[in-house]
Amino acid sequence: MVSERSGAQVLVASNRGPVSYALAADGALSAKRGGGGLVSGLSAIGPGSDALWVCAALGDGDREAVRRSGGALDPEDTGGQRVRMLDIPAEVHADAYNGVANSVLWFVHHMLYQTPLEPVFDDRFRAQWASYETYNAAFAEALADAAAPSAAVLVQDYHLALVPGMLRDRRPDLRIAHFSHTPWAPPEYFAMLPDDVQRKLTVGILGADRANFLTERWARAFTGCCRQALGADCDAYWPSDGAPYVVSTPPESTPRRTRIGVHGLGADADFLRERAHRPDVEERMATLRQQIGGTDRKTIVRVDRTELSKNIVRGLLAYRRLLADHPEWHERVVHVAFAYPSRQDLAVYREYTAEVGRLAEEINAEYGTADWQPVELHVKDDFARSLAAYRLADVALVNPIRDGMNLVAKEIPVVSDHGCALVLSREAGAYAELGKDALVINPYDINATAEALHTALSMEYGERAERTKRLAAAATALPPAQWFLDQLDALKTDPATSSSAP
Ligand code: G6P
Repeated sequence: MVSERSGAQVLVASNRGPVSYALAADGALSAKRGGGGLVSGLSAIGPGSDALWVCAALGDGDREAVRRSGGALDPEDTGGQRVRMLDIPAEVHADAYNGVANSVLWFVHHMLYQTPLEPVFDDRFRAQWASYETYNAAFAEALADAAAPSAAVLVQDYHLALVPGMLRDRRPDLRIAHFSHTPWAPPEYFAMLPDDVQRKLTVGILGADRANFLTERWARAFTGCCRQALGADCDAYWPSDGAPYVVSTPPESTPRRTRIGVHGLGADADFLRERAHRPDVEERMATLRQQIGGTDRKTIVRVDRTELSKNIVRGLLAYRRLLADHPEWHERVVHVAFAYPSRQDLAVYREYTAEVGRLAEEINAEYGTADWQPVELHVKDDFARSLAAYRLADVALVNPIRDGMNLVAKEIPVVSDHGCALVLSREAGAYAELGKDALVINPYDINATAEALHTALSMEYGERAERTKRLAAAATALPPAQWFLDQLDALKTDPATSSSAP
């Protein structure tokens, strides 16, 4: 393995890393490895590579692990991955992550502001914004320090939008990509942000050689926002026979060209199919079957972080509407809803979590009988149980208000045991690839969602199975390993154009 001093050839940067630590009362540290597209994507470049993942310490356990290891974590804890965790001061991180990234940028890109929930750009925001800059600079500094000459750096998500520009200033030799895992706000919505913030966010990402997105829709929104925020200093090109790019002229600098990439992350079929047939998943299927009860009851499954953009409340309201309009389903369907708590430092998320719980209870009180509980709501994160539900599902409900991709919509068809009808929001990135074989809904329309659930529940098995096969094929077109390699290849093979006009 290459030592960190000689510099890494490939670097990944993200707020949340591939491992987190819990600190026990007796001072013992235990590591928990995360999953997701990036973790499996990075494994594609092989064990023993010198790739380095730079992430933030997110809690007391992480901070203690950084103190004990000096920042370069023990590869035993990370599955062999080299990880450098940054101990950014807790208040700076909280302002950047909770204040700017999750309360403002997440809300803007997912278009979640609705009266009376509105953005406030006061002195408090300005202090948080300063922290966001400091936190981005800490990443840029660490990456500049750890990268080998001309190394490839893959910067992830809205938390780190300023990093590409900051890193370019420090290390013009590097190949830099930024990936947005979220949607990108349309220009009219992005316009809500203060003008200087709009400029810094777009110039920050345009500091990269490539700005990558999950769908063309989000990529086009980004280029529209660049034009809006930078005016005469920016032009976006979408040639009919070549790769799109943006030419921007940062202050006191020559024009720079940033290529725009679209990489639609898919499901990891091999991993999911193997994992979904292990004994712990079989056990949970048995438990779930008991909870569902009845021999011919159908199951509507949803699996989400408890997240406003996932639209769980409207999903439950649609299910209630289904039970009201179609009494023939009473005792014959159960809604298995897994809603795993997320971002509980934010009051609006805590309130949303409580609302989900209240509504599930209300529906059960309203319609439940001695041996039928209409909603099975579970909030404890359990991946094996999620896979068990995927296998059992007759209907999958994926109804986000907006979503970068939504991997649940892609994973369920891959592991489904007997075919599953997919009710899918047209505002999920996955719609671009799965729309043809899904029952497509407007996520705000509760009545139409209820009708789509009815149609899905009534679908013939043969049709369901056929659609599921096609959905699984579309969902696995770009598995995480290929998704990651494609980005890396594009970054390495693009001519070095970042400092010249087209
Ligand atoms: C989204 C974001 C990720 C983030 C994840 C979980 O998928 O695109 O960057 O890590 O949500 O959110 P959290 O705030 O818990 O990291």
